[in-house]
Amino acid sequence: MNVLLLGSGGREHALAWKIAQSPLLDKLYIAPGNAGTAQVGTNLPISATAFDEIKKAVKEYAINLVVVGPEDPLVKGVHDFFLNDAELKSIPVIGPQKYAATLEGSKEFAKAFMNRHNIPTAKHFTVTAENLQEGFDFLAKQTAPYVLKADGLAAGKGVLILNDLNEAKSELENMLNGKFGAASKTVVLEECLKGIEMSVFVLTDGEGYVILPEAKDYKRVGEHDTGLNTGGMGAVSPVPFADKKLMERIESEIIKPTIAGLKEDNIPYCGFIFFGLMNDNGTPKVIEYNVRMGDPETEVVIPRIKSDLLQLFVAAANKKLSQEKIEINPFSATTVMAVSGGYPEAYEKGKTITFSEQFSDSIVFHAGTKLENGEVKTSGGRVLAVTSLGENKDAALKISYKNITKIHFDKMYYRRDIGQDL
Ligand code: AMP
Ligand code: GLY
Repeated sequence: MNVLLLGSGGREHALAWKIAQSPLLDKLYIAPGNAGTAQVGTNLPISATAFDEIKKAVKEYAINLVVVGPEDPLVKGVHDFFLNDAELKSIPVIGPQKYAATLEGSKEFAKAFMNRHNIPTAKHFTVTAENLQEGFDFLAKQTAPYVLKADGLAAGKGVLILNDLNEAKSELENMLNGKFGAASKTVVLEECLKGIEMSVFVLTDGEGYVILPEAKDYKRVGEHDTGLNTGGMGAVSPVPFADKKLMERIESEIIKPTIAGLKEDNIPYCGFIFFGLMNDNGTPKVIEYNVRMGDPETEVVIPRIKSDLLQLFVAAANKKLSQEKIEINPFSATTVMAVSGGYPEAYEKGKTITFSEQFSDSIVFHAGTKLENGEVKTSGGRVLAVTSLGENKDAALKISYKNITKIHFDKMYYRRDIGQDL
């Protein structure tokens, strides 16, 4: 079969790398892809949100299945676009429809869903210009730090965690006044959860599901979790504290009620669910839902999956996922992200990437790269993810850190402490 994968980051390179290994695959296309995806498939110069051009490509390349990497096309309704088009509606799309994608696109929608279905999460209060005073009252009843979230998508920047009550109140007003544009016209205030974060992923067809390996990512740019938030500077899987007991609680208290809740609310769902969780001494709570895989978590989750991912996608498309088992490699996977100097603030692009020595004991997933006259150049803040497998996390990290020193581009930076807090 022919597959079209939408997206262009490290997540998409990891998905493409895995799909390309499937005996079910004839041809893999990636729109728009990067220099890494070009090694395992054919890149198409089409944006992941250019639906009409995607339709043309689907017909021209006789695509049988579409896999959506990022949230943007999902929230914009790419799956609905297929369902509403006579020529496309028989082609399965892995990735939820627009309404279900609201689980990621609106924090208030996600909170209401969790409360309706008794899924453990932080207490919250929703504020608009109409009930500002009640918002102040809710904040005053919390203990610091104060958590303020733009309701809508704000490129990962819409969450403020503030220690001072007065600052929290004035930032609440700023948000309602458009600090994050339309995304913060509604603000969700939350109780601050304590504990340690982790990410859990499932692939579901709305009935059956398979649980993918869990992971922990490192969001801050600086070592020891300092500095600005980024998309993610590295990741490890498995998560050492996620023992059998915790994973069983996550499945029974969070995963099952979420899938049952979707069914109860008549929300069809075919795709990934990413549960951003807080583990408070063995009690898991949901921080957020995402309707896609995480990045860079995918770069450690996918290499641990032994099963044929494309076979799982086909089963999901046919609503037969409950008949599938997923086989996981017990080894640890780690990834360290090489980023452009200055990221997540201003940084330069177009730097030539070179390798002083070739290596085969790590997989280099491309995040922000592109091919220019046969040369691989940087084209984003996060550039390459160096993924390794080892008998344990430290063995895997050792390989990632050995190999990342062989990669060079002007002003390259990476965190040297990934996985060290665990
Ligand atoms: P979100 O976009 O909802 O994932 O929030 C971004 C980050 O803010 C999360 O990864 C957490 O580190 C932090 N965060 C969000 N909500 C809470 C909360 N209720 N309590 C503690 N930390 C939170
Ligand atoms: N690494 C976090 C995310 O993909 O949202």
